[in-house]
Amino acid sequence: MSCKAIKSMIYYIYFIERRIFMTDKELLAAADKAMENAYAPYSGFRVGAALLCSDGSVFTGCNIENSSYGATNCAERTAIFKAVSEGCRDFTAIAIVSSGGGETFPCGICRQVLGEFSPDIRIILRNSDDEPISYSFQELMPNFFSL
Ligand code: THU
Repeated sequence: MSCKAIKSMIYYIYFIERRIFMTDKELLAAADKAMENAYAPYSGFRVGAALLCSDGSVFTGCNIENSSYGATNCAERTAIFKAVSEGCRDFTAIAIVSSGGGETFPCGICRQVLGEFSPDIRIILRNSDDEPISYSFQELMPNFFSL
C-alpha cells in the first residue's frame, strides 16, 4: 500500500472517530450554535440542543414558541423529531444549553420523548463554572412511562 493511501486511511479513521466520539464540549458548542435560531419572543428564554446519534450524526434544535403557547416546541424535541424524521432513532447523548445560564434540565415531556427512543442516553449540560456535566437518563427519568 502506498504512503498516500495509508495517509488517507488514517485521515478517514480519524474523521469517523471524531464524528462518533464527539466530545461533550463540542456537543455543547453545537447546542450553542442552535440556540442562535431560537424563536422565543414570549418567554425570552432561548434554548439550544444537539443530539448525537450512534452513527455519529448530530441533529440540532432550538425552542420554537407560538402565540398559542401550548403550540410551543422545546429545543430537545425539535432535535429529536429532526433525527427521527431522518431515520435516526438511536441516540448516544444530548447537549442542552439556554440563555438562562447554569444547568438547563430537559422538561418532563422531552424526557419522556427521549425515553421512547434511547433510555440509555446521556444528558450533557453546562454548569455555572462553564464546564460540561452529564447525567444518565435513568438519573433524570426513573420509571418513565412505556406501554
Ligand atoms: N424549553 C425548552 O426548549 N426545553 C425545555 O426542556 C424546557 C423549556 C423552552 C420552551 C419555552 O420556549 C421556553 O423554554 C420557556 O419555557
